[in-house]
Order: sequence, then structure tokens, then C-alpha cells
Amino acid sequence: MYKLIRSFFFLFDPEKVHYFAMSMFRILCSFAPTRKILAAAFKPSASNLATEQWGICFPNPVGLAAGFDKNAKYLRELEVMGFGAVEIGTVTPLAQPGNDKPRLFRLVKDKAIINRMGFNNEGVKEVVKRLEAWRSKRRQSPMIIGGNIGKNKVTPNENAWKDYEICFNELFDYVDYFVVNVSSPNTPGLRELQEKDSLRKILSHLQTLRAERLKLSGSTIQKPILLKIAPDLTESQLDDVIDLAKEIQLDGLVATNTTISRDNLSPESQEKAKETGGLSGLPLKQKSTEFVRHIYEKTNAGIPVIASGGIFTAADAKEKLNAGASLVQVWTSFIYEGPAVAKKICNGL
Ligand SMILES: Cc1cc2nc3c(=O)[nH]c(=O)nc-3n(C[C@H](O)[C@H](O)[C@H](O)COP(=O)(O)O)c2cc1C
Repeated sequence: MYKLIRSFFFLFDPEKVHYFAMSMFRILCSFAPTRKILAAAFKPSASNLATEQWGICFPNPVGLAAGFDKNAKYLRELEVMGFGAVEIGTVTPLAQPGNDKPRLFRLVKDKAIINRMGFNNEGVKEVVKRLEAWRSKRRQSPMIIGGNIGKNKVTPNENAWKDYEICFNELFDYVDYFVVNVSSPNTPGLRELQEKDSLRKILSHLQTLRAERLKLSGSTIQKPILLKIAPDLTESQLDDVIDLAKEIQLDGLVATNTTISRDNLSPESQEKAKETGGLSGLPLKQKSTEFVRHIYEKTNAGIPVIASGGIFTAADAKEKLNAGASLVQVWTSFIYEGPAVAKKICNGL
């Protein structure tokens, strides 16, 4: 059924289709009876999928990766689709339009996407308003919400830590965990922040802020801080990140973001492959699994990893979990496999 809908959707501009499809789904979910029918249809039937990590109970290990619901607009719809977690963002302090359109391209033959969105988002204050409303209406929702934070394009790298601080403080009461994104290829210079000293500055600062907030509030609820890394790091750069993560006792890593590599693409994709941006989907699968395995082995399973990159099926998810991941996320497979992707993966685990 989804294949049929997909072939229709694929006739149109990918970004327009994304918002159109989610708006349609939202209309269906706005009526309680249809919402209940959809929730029942998308609910994973497998039991015992709940996974505890950092003291947080994820109803299932399959999350939606950052960039799909940048502005926290579709939480109810994504909950209906059976995701155990949704990582909202990347959110920046100020709203920004992102790069010029078109900026999203399908490489159908390779089950891949190239995007150069450039952190288009409505800014952290708008996102907080939505999360506040969500939290007050849906106190019982078991779906976990991660906050993926970044810097504005106009902020120079030496002041980047301030942008991360603003987003961290604003989102603190509304998300269950944080992901510091310094690995998107679409904000000029951002990935330079993956260098050890820049990372130490940003991450240690957030850890200090967290400690202060917890002390003030007397709360014991830790908000884990994770770092999302690029699959284009060299082995020695990756080892630097791992050393730092151990040194500052970082809570976890998200491996990986999209890649700037265009290796292993089919001849049919060569034209689209010329588009600049990050490549995601099936061509990224192996590299991101290698990163997960390397982190797991180098740290003796000491740092939890959320795996992201080319997960389409339960077998792909198992591959990541066997390589050492604690949780998995999907993005590109949502486009190719449809809204039942979380259910399908969960049921096969
Ligand atoms: C259109 C698009 C937008 C994305 N935006 C973000 C983003 O804002 N922040 C981020 O950390 N990752 C972003 N990503 C990367 C995904 O979260 C994910 O890490 C990556 O696509 C690899 O997973 P996949 O192969 O399952 O798609 C984006 C990916 C796509 C395809």
C-alpha cells in the first residue's frame, strides 16, 4: 500500500511532500476515532521492547532521528506511528530560514537522500512553546523526546558555546536528553567544532550548567548530554572524540550524522550525487556501523551509543545493536518504507 502512495509522492518536490504528508496525517490524527485506529495499526505488536538507558525508559529502541521534526510540530503524529523517541531539532537560538531551495534530493536507486537544509528552524523559543503545550497536555506520554541543539549560521565558531548554552537552558525542562550537533555538513565551519578543544569547551560548559541546575532544583533527574558525530572523521579524529568523551564522562554519542562522501552510489545516482550536502540512507549503513563498533570496542562498552545511519529493517537495527549500540534511530527509511517503519523494525527485533 505504501509503495503505491510513495510512487505518487515521489512525483513531487521532496520537501513539499514532507510537509504535505505530515499535514495530512495530522488531520487524520486530529479526530479521536481515526487517531485510535491509526495508533492501533502502527503499534508494535512485539512486547518486552522497553529499553532503559541513563535511567530513562524508552518504550522501544527505535527513535526518529533529528531533522525530521525540527520544530516539534508533529509529536502526536509521531507517537501514533509508534516511535519510542523523537529527537527534535536541530534547534538554534534564533529562527533561520536555512539554505536556498531546492535543498533535498532523493537518490531512489540507492535508497538515499542528499540534504543541505542548513538548520532551517523556528528558533528555540517557538519550539519551547510547543514542547510546553505537549508536556502539559500529554503528561502520560511514554515517548521520549531528545533535544538536538546547534548554533546559528551567523554565530562565529568562537562564540558557538553561547548558542549551545541558550538552547540548553531554554529546552532543559522539556526534553529528556540532549544531543550537541557539531557534525552537520550544511552549516559552514560547524564541523571544525569537532576538534577536541572546541568540543571540550562546549560539552564541559553544558555539563557545568546541568550540575548547577540540578543543585538549584534539588532534582535527581539527569538530562544526559550526547554528542553527534560525523562519519567523515578520520580514525584518529574519532579516537580523539572517544578520549574526550571518556575524560569528561560524556553520557553518550550519536553515530552518525550524514556523510559528504559519495562512494558506492549507482550510475543512476551520479547526477544527483553532484548536489552538495549530506548523504543519508543505505549507502551510509556500513560506515555508521563501523563507527558504532569502533566506539564500543575502544571504550569497552563504556559509552552508550545511539546508532543512526542506513537503518531500514529489523536486520539493520540488529546489526547496529550487535555492533554495540544501545538504541537506534531512523530518518531516510521513513521516506522509503513509510510511517510503519518503527513498527516493522520493532516487530522484527
Ligand atoms: C533532510 C534531513 C535533515 C536532517 N537534519 C538534521 C538535523 O537538523 N540535525 C541532525 O543532527 N541531523 C539531521 N539529519 C541527519 C539525520 O538525523 C540522521 O543522522 C542521518 O540522516 C542518518 O540516518 P538515516 O540514514 O537513517 O537517514 C538530517 C537528515 C536528513 C535526511
